[in-house]
Amino acid sequence: MERKEKLYEGKAKIIYATDDPDKNILYFKDDATAFNGAKKGSIVDKGIINNKVSAKLFQMLAENGVESHFIEQLSDREMLAYKVDIMLVEVVARNYIAGSLAKRMGKDEGGKLEWPIVEYYYKDDDLNDPMINRDHVLVFGIASAEQIDSAHKTALKVNQILSEYLFARDILLVDFKLEFGNYKGKMLLADEICPDTCRLWDRHTLEKLDKDRFRRELGNVEDAYQEICRRVCGEL
Ligand code: TMP
Repeated sequence: MERKEKLYEGKAKIIYATDDPDKNILYFKDDATAFNGAKKGSIVDKGIINNKVSAKLFQMLAENGVESHFIEQLSDREMLAYKVDIMLVEVVARNYIAGSLAKRMGKDEGGKLEWPIVEYYYKDDDLNDPMINRDHVLVFGIASAEQIDSAHKTALKVNQILSEYLFARDILLVDFKLEFGNYKGKMLLADEICPDTCRLWDRHTLEKLDKDRFRRELGNVEDAYQEICRRVCGEL
């Protein structure tokens, strides 16, 4: 499959057309941003790791009945995916208190939630991706009830499957963000699932092995990404 014209360049990926109008190539960059682009940098080989980890996790989820835009990994930094119409709602699922939840609720990080919390964020950089609820989604016509309810249900299913998969590899799935896209009337899981979009802590030491190392300048960012890649993609 050959790369044709560039369709879109985001913070972490470039999307190219292919000779098949239903398929795109996603190119994973090393560029890293945080706080809606206010902090910029790069993480060596991040693109390679995020492509590989996402491919592995999308494959694993497909084996467990969760459909996504993923078709195949084409090269170190390229993934072939169905061309979806991205829903402008980011869906976050949380198992432990961390990040913006800790801040919003005035709690320390690390507490286990009695059950998973699912949140919606309006995907709009100019507004800084504000948190919204189901009524906002429906009243403002951001997505249909069917679409948001399907995304919510899939997020909980992904949470269960992914938490188990990662726990077996000594990783706690603290929280994560999913994106969804419409493909021929179906809501498919889209974007990427990787250390940029998940909080991943070592199960025993609670060491952070994700993008928080970059966001919070904790050091050893590359080592953490490599370690996640090794645990997620390696044999048990
Ligand atoms: P938060 O605690 O900052 O709201 O983040 C929740 C989860 O969403 C966390 O796993 C990181 C992920 N996330 C993204 O993938 N992209 C973003 O822009 C933000 C803010 C968070």
